Amino acid sequence: MNSLAVTSDPRSGISKKNVRIPEPCIVVIFGASGDLTKRKLLPALYHLDQSGLLPDDFAVVGVARRDLSTTFALDMQDGIIRDGGVEEDDPKLTPFMDRVHYFSADFDDDARFERLKSYLAAMDEKFGTKGNRLFYLAVAPEFFADIIARLGMHGMTTPKKGPGNWVRVIVEKPFGTDFESARKLNDDVNAVLSEDQIFRIDHYLGKDAVQNILVFRFGNGIFEPIWNRNHIDHIEITAAESIGVEGRGPFYEKTGAVRDVLQNHVMEMLALIAMESPGSFEAEAVRAEKLKVWRSVREIEVKDAVRGQYGPGSVNGKHVVGYRQEDRVDPDSQTETYAAIRVEIGNWRWAGVPFYLRTGKRLGKRVTEVKIVFKQSPTHLFKTGSNDEEIQPNVITMRIQPNEGISLHFGTKVPGPTTNVSQVDMRFSYADVFGQSSTNGYERLLLDAMLGDATLFAHRDGVEATWALFTPLLEAWAKDSNTGFPDYAAGSQGPIGAIKLVENDGRAWREF
Ligand code: BG6
Repeated sequence: MNSLAVTSDPRSGISKKNVRIPEPCIVVIFGASGDLTKRKLLPALYHLDQSGLLPDDFAVVGVARRDLSTTFALDMQDGIIRDGGVEEDDPKLTPFMDRVHYFSADFDDDARFERLKSYLAAMDEKFGTKGNRLFYLAVAPEFFADIIARLGMHGMTTPKKGPGNWVRVIVEKPFGTDFESARKLNDDVNAVLSEDQIFRIDHYLGKDAVQNILVFRFGNGIFEPIWNRNHIDHIEITAAESIGVEGRGPFYEKTGAVRDVLQNHVMEMLALIAMESPGSFEAEAVRAEKLKVWRSVREIEVKDAVRGQYGPGSVNGKHVVGYRQEDRVDPDSQTETYAAIRVEIGNWRWAGVPFYLRTGKRLGKRVTEVKIVFKQSPTHLFKTGSNDEEIQPNVITMRIQPNEGISLHFGTKVPGPTTNVSQVDMRFSYADVFGQSSTNGYERLLLDAMLGDATLFAHRDGVEATWALFTPLLEAWAKDSNTGFPDYAAGSQGPIGAIKLVENDGRAWREF
């Protein structure tokens, strides 16, 4: 435990053992006036700098439409302090902020793209960044293809010749809205960039507790032998949020819970839980195993899926409005804010084991977790007598957030002259062992992209495979407007239909 504690830096959350520092580069963030840049990206870059993981020759350029040249750096500093948990008088803050700059451009203005090119070249002179670029597209999905095309047209996607020179592009999610659009976007992007230049980000993969799924499964000897249909009854993956749409009404109206969270964050967790051990931790090996899982998922039938939408209710003791009353949301909206599905993976390891997946906004609690529910003990030895608590199945809970950790649920004898059984939990908590971390997951992903390591990023095949799974369901839902929305109260556990989905199989969701 100690050796781990000293080799990982709590600010970046990244082990400093065998650490590699990226080549000099400029991180160019498109859509820099949005929340993500201030609240996540700049704090993450700063944490990396604090931990000595950025190259000395480094700069950040924010790009957006508005003219923010006088306020941008100050605004970003505010984000680093407030969202990054950094002290105002941190000695590295001023030198870091000196390297943060802003360039205004309309995303369809060729003249400005040409100017951007010379602006970045001037930054290279000033900061010694050698022409290396990490473009980050933190923009609405409809701009991805155009921005990449313009970067290509203006000669900004070709790295300088020679070793250590690179240009890479990170693209935020959602990557497409269905199978066809994802394929078209992949084609458009790959027309300009080679696959090893494109980093499709899913910030869940930057979370330590998500990465820990593979460490837990394959870095320990005792779990893998029982990680299959012989011992596991079913698996639940829950990504529940208590927040609503947070001012993102127009985005969410077009997106909904399946496209926003299920097709990406939840499917990534499913793959890590279900995949075979890769031959190495190289990008290609890991992605190949994940792809096999997605391609083995049986077709999702409409009867195995439930959608819901929140009405007014109370969350954490506060009255909140329903989805249809949110800012810039259609008062008759049919967009789902909740989705639950039952999937089966048709391979030898998992055949017959249901995976119940659910996600939703404005639920009673914020919790993301995976529950591995094992088969019940076959004996009835401890069911009777004065003991009214039945033996329950063993459950491994992998808590992704908040209170990251892992617990094992099992029955134990209560001390005393009778054989009474009580259910207890053995817990590991990240905070207790490693201390609180102020990282947000983007540290690891930004660093990996600067290093050219795509292990924790999605490949085009993976994105298309997950869209292929959800597209028939989304199309069927789109044709059927008989939703009965709203159908769950804000602050509840979700719609009744989701409870029935699991009850019909003779099971029940674990309450969150
Ligand atoms: C984003 C979704 O990808 O993930 C948001 O667009 C959602 O709607 C968020 O709130 C959840 O991320 P986290 O890290 O807070 O669980």
